[in-house]
Amino acid sequence: MKLLVVGGAGYVGSTSVERFVEAGHEVTIFDNLSSGHRAAVPRGARLVIGDIADGSRLAAALDGVDAVLHCAARSLVGESMADPGLYYRVNVAGGVSLLESMRAAGVTRLVYSSTAAVYGEPRRVPIAEADRTQPINPYGETKLAFEGAMRWFSAAHDFRAISLRYFNVAGATEMNGEDHDPETHLVPLVLRVAAGEATHVQIFGQDYPTPDGTCIRDFIHVRDLASAHLLALDATGEADPSLEVYNLGSAAGFSVREVVEAARRVTGRAIPARVVKRRTGDPPVLVASSRRARRELGWAPAHSTLEQMVSDAWAWREAHPNGYADAPSDGTGPVAGARVAAGAR
Ligand code: UFG
Repeated sequence: MKLLVVGGAGYVGSTSVERFVEAGHEVTIFDNLSSGHRAAVPRGARLVIGDIADGSRLAAALDGVDAVLHCAARSLVGESMADPGLYYRVNVAGGVSLLESMRAAGVTRLVYSSTAAVYGEPRRVPIAEADRTQPINPYGETKLAFEGAMRWFSAAHDFRAISLRYFNVAGATEMNGEDHDPETHLVPLVLRVAAGEATHVQIFGQDYPTPDGTCIRDFIHVRDLASAHLLALDATGEADPSLEVYNLGSAAGFSVREVVEAARRVTGRAIPARVVKRRTGDPPVLVASSRRARRELGWAPAHSTLEQMVSDAWAWREAHPNGYADAPSDGTGPVAGARVAAGAR
C-alpha cells in the first residue's frame, strides 16, 4: 500500500512507520515537526514537512495514497486545560482539514490514533468501546470530537475509518523511542532518575483504592501499537463505509509502584521515589478491554510485559542519552537513508 502517516515523526507515528516500511509499504510522513523529530524518520520513508491546516500541501502529499494513519495531535492533558483553543485548532480544525483534503483527493481509508481519554472517569473497568464517553479535559473532548467528524464523513462520503483508543504507551524500537519536551510520562521520567538526571521520581498519590495505593494504568508496547495500526489499515480495505472503534490494552494494568520496581530491576539502579500529593484528574484505575480488537482485527500484543517495555525504553535511552538531540539534522535520520522530500520546506 501507499500510506500517508500524518504526525509520523512523533513517538507513536515513527515506530508505526518503521513497521509499515518493514512490511513492504511505501510510506510518506506528513509532519510539521512541532513535537516530532526529523531524526525519527525511518530509513525508506519520505518526509514532507507541513501542517495539517495547509490543505494544498496535504493535497500534494495525498496524491496516489491508498490509506492514511492520523497521529498528529496535541496530547498533553495539562496543556489542554491551560490552552483549550490550541487543542480545538489542532485536534479538531486540523483534523477536519485532513478529512476535507482526503475527500478532495478521493482517499477514504483512515485509521485514527485516538485515546482512552475520551472515556473520562470510567464507570467500570475494563472499559469497553460502548461504554460512556464523557471526557474530563479538552484533550479527550477534542479527540472525541474528531471521532465524531470521522463518523459523519463515513456516512456522507463513504469513509472507511477505524479509531484506536489506547491508554499508556511505553517501550521503544532500536531506532525510535520517547523524547518529549516537556516530558510528563511515567516511564521516561523514572528512567531519567535511573540515568542520574533527576534525584527522585515523584509518585502522585499513594492513597488510591488500589492494592498498593498508587494508580493503575494499562500499558502497551509501542511495537504492539504499531502492529495494531497496520492491522487496522488493512481492515479498512475490506470494511463497508463506517467508523469502527477499538480499545487497545494489555488488559492487566500495572501500578505506578510496579513500574518503578520494574525499572529498578531492569536498570539495577536505586531510583529513589517520593510520594507527593495526587495529580489533578488522575482516575485510580484505567484498564481497557481489548477483546474486540483481538477478535475482529486479530491483534495480540506480543511485547507488552512490563519488563519488556521498561527494558526496551532503557536500551533506547542508553543508546540515545540525549534523545534525538544528537542525531544528524540533515534529514538522514537516526540511520542513513531517510529522505526529506524535495521542496518539502
Ligand atoms: N505519574 C507519577 N509520577 C510522574 C508521572 C506520572 O506518579 O512523575 C503517574 C500518574 O499520576 C499516573 C501514571 O503515573 O497515575 C501514568 O501517568 P502518565 O502521565 O504517564 O500517563 P496518563 O495515564 O496520565 O496519560 C495517558 C496518556 C494520555 C491519555 C491518558 C488517558 O499519556 O495521552 O493516558 O487517560 F490522555
